[in-house]
Amino acid sequence: MTIDTKFIDQLIKVSSKAALASSYLVGKKDKLAADQAAVDAMRLELNKIDMSGEVVIGEGSLDEAPMLYTGELLGNKKGPNFDIAVDPLEGTNFAANNLPGAISVIAIAEKGNLFNAPETYMEKIATGKVEKGLIDLDNPLQKNISNLADFMNKDISLITACVMDRPRHKNIIQKLKELKVKVKLITDGDVLGALYVSNPKYNVDIFLGTGGGPEGVLAATALDSYGCHFQGRFIFDNDKDISEAKKMGIVDLNKKYELNEIVRGDSIFCATGITTSEVLSGIQSNKDNYRSETLVTHKSSGFNQIIKKTTSIKE
Ligand code: FBP
Repeated sequence: MTIDTKFIDQLIKVSSKAALASSYLVGKKDKLAADQAAVDAMRLELNKIDMSGEVVIGEGSLDEAPMLYTGELLGNKKGPNFDIAVDPLEGTNFAANNLPGAISVIAIAEKGNLFNAPETYMEKIATGKVEKGLIDLDNPLQKNISNLADFMNKDISLITACVMDRPRHKNIIQKLKELKVKVKLITDGDVLGALYVSNPKYNVDIFLGTGGGPEGVLAATALDSYGCHFQGRFIFDNDKDISEAKKMGIVDLNKKYELNEIVRGDSIFCATGITTSEVLSGIQSNKDNYRSETLVTHKSSGFNQIIKKTTSIKE
């Protein structure tokens, strides 16, 4: 992918402007308004870029979401063809209730290289870089944990597993407890949850459980740049989702997707903090300027950094 710093700067602006727009609604108890503000700002910025982009992961279908719907064409149509995945406000509860962890996310890959994920749940597993076959969605939990502990030369009791706090994860959490693994429960936001495995400073060795499929593709894009391990399996458990999947050309409904089947080739991922989390500070603004922190990953150059910027509100 021909990427220059101008293009990366433009993408940072896309997620930063969405984060800024949403930040004005933080703590206002209205997650739809916070989401809509982020969507509108993101769309405006994306349409300024020299590209022909198509949303492959967005805010639902055209009839459900007037903006940034799957299939929407973006950019000024004067540049290269890209697949675009967006989550303008990831963590709507966090934003509405002024809690840590709301972010604005965009990922871009060359046309045809980003998985067009259905709007279903996805079973996910993520770790740092490991040997092939060591950690697998098809392994019993105990095997994954003991393999990881051996690989990391750690006692199992020193392994930390991040899991979303959901009734559907009751058995996983119980088993982790029996294994004496350190459990880090998160209430929402499994893009960041999965990203914790990318850097030892977050103290998470493995992320597991079921969350949104689109969020899985977004996290996978960033994890790919870090050389991390990720697998996902969509869950089609009702007639509507099964027929959607078939329409999308998914033949094997139980297929386990490897990272390189979710995102191929070069990619860029940008996530800007809206409210402060362990990974990113949230937006701080006054009448003139705003300060943003954006995690940027670029696969082919190996660029993975948090970019801190102070920008004029008028820019
Ligand atoms: P929203 O930003 O759309 O509210 O999603 C937050 C989130 O926690 C995602 O990070 C996660 O993938 C999904 O919701 C989990 O869904 P559910 O709340 O139904 O378990």
